[in-house]
Amino acid sequence: MPFTIAIDGPAASGKGTVARALAAQFGFHHLDTGLLYRATGAKGGDPAAAARSLTPEDLARDDLRSAEAGEAASRIAAIPEVRTALVQFQRDFARKEPGAVLDGRDIGTVICPDAEVKLFITASDLVRARRRAAELNTDAQIVLEQLRGRDARDSQRADAPMRPADDAVLLDTSEMSVEQAVETATALVQTAI
Ligand code: C5P
Repeated sequence: MPFTIAIDGPAASGKGTVARALAAQFGFHHLDTGLLYRATGAKGGDPAAAARSLTPEDLARDDLRSAEAGEAASRIAAIPEVRTALVQFQRDFARKEPGAVLDGRDIGTVICPDAEVKLFITASDLVRARRRAAELNTDAQIVLEQLRGRDARDSQRADAPMRPADDAVLLDTSEMSVEQAVETATALVQTAI
């Protein structure tokens, strides 16, 4: 039986870092599901058609990490037909042996409601803005406004809004180092494995 770890949370909360570390530690596959939405937004044209025809090359574009790509992703992610087009790929990925870690916004609630471990990772707005500004080498105030806009859209949309699953463990990384966040998450997985 494959083992699935669902990690959700807002932008720059540390969920990607924790997801990658858990996958490496337990020898599991990792899928950054935000990349699917970023690639769909960046592809242009009709968003639902773009989502249905995503290729590995689309996912490997080097402009997907930008703030603009995140903003475009968040806009097309509110379209139900886009989300529907991406469900099966994510569910198939989640069943890979020996296990998989998926990170996003709706993994614990919609994509993998039966995941063995569910984590919802948060951090204060300011901490997240500082982290992302350092990554992108930009101004934290501008990043803060972008993050707030994106979080509001992601949590208020009608279809698969960002929210913790009822059985998710909440992890606030505001006061934690990367090592502490990874350690806490690892301990949690170890108790469930
Ligand atoms: O995680 P990342 O910042 O790369 O995600 C980009 C955007 O894609 C998010 O702001 C969100 O709108 C959307 N997304 C989503 N569901 C997911 C992953 C990402 O709606 N599972």
